[in-house]
Amino acid sequence: MANSIHKVRCGFQTKQRYRFGWFSMKLKLVGGDSAGVVTAYYMCSENGAGPTRDEIDFEFLGNRTGQPYLVQTNVYKNGTGNREMRHMLWFDPTEDYHTYSILWNNHQLVFFVDRVPIRVFKNNEKPNDFFPNEKPMYLFSSVWNADEWATRGGLEKTNWKLAPFVSSYKDFSVDACQWEDPYPKCVSTTTKNWWDQYGSWHLSGDQKMDYAWVQRNLVIYDYCNDSERFPTLPEECSLSPWE
Ligand SMILES: *[C@@H]1O[C@H](CO)[C@@H](O)[C@H](O)[C@H]1NC(C)=O
Repeated sequence: MANSIHKVRCGFQTKQRYRFGWFSMKLKLVGGDSAGVVTAYYMCSENGAGPTRDEIDFEFLGNRTGQPYLVQTNVYKNGTGNREMRHMLWFDPTEDYHTYSILWNNHQLVFFVDRVPIRVFKNNEKPNDFFPNEKPMYLFSSVWNADEWATRGGLEKTNWKLAPFVSSYKDFSVDACQWEDPYPKCVSTTTKNWWDQYGSWHLSGDQKMDYAWVQRNLVIYDYCNDSERFPTLPEECSLSPWE
C-alpha cells in the first residue's frame, strides 16, 4: 500500500535499573497470523543496542495461524550474544496470560514459564567468564517486526493487513536490588533477599524434575549442541545446570 506507514516497533521500559533479583510479568501474545512479529521481554544494561551491553532476553516468535509460537532466549555479555536456545511451549500463549520470569543472581540465571524453569545459565565464577553480573539492567518489552529472520528463518513475512499487532501485559512484579549510581541501593550485610540466598543458587528438587521434562520434550535448539556453528563450544556449555 503506497501511502501507509507502519510503526515497526513499540514498547516500554522500567525507569529503574536492577542488579539481581526476580522479575516477572504476565503476557498474552499476538494471536492469529503473527508470523514475522516478535514480542520481546528482556533486560538490558543500556537503552540502546550499545556495543558493550549486557542483556537477558525472552523473545516470542510469532507464526502463521495455528502454527506454534517458539520462545527464543539469549544472554549477552559486553555486547556478545550468540547464546540462543529455542523452546516450544506446552500451551497456546495467545489464548491466555502466562507468567514469564527471570531469576538472576551471581550464581545462575533462570528463565521460567509459569514457574517451570525452561533454561538455566550458570556462572562458573571464574574471572572472564561469560556471565552478566556486573551491570545493572533495565527491564523492557517491545513488539516489533522481525520478518527477515523470525518465522521459519524469514520465509514467512508479516501480513500488514492484520495490523495492529497487540500483545497484552499484566501483573509486573519486581523483587530485586535497585541500583542507584554508583552503588546498589539494597546492599546490606545483615538482610539478604531470597533470590540471592543459597536456595536460589541452584534448582530445587521439584524444579529439577520440571526442567528435565522441558529438556526432554520442548527444546528445539540449543547453541551448546551446535558444533557446526561452534567447533569449540563456549566454555559455559560444560557447566552443569543440575548443581
Ligand atoms: C512456525 O511453524 C512452522 C511450521 O509448523 C515451524 O516449522 C516453525 O518452527 C514455527 N516457528 C517459527 C518461529 O518458525
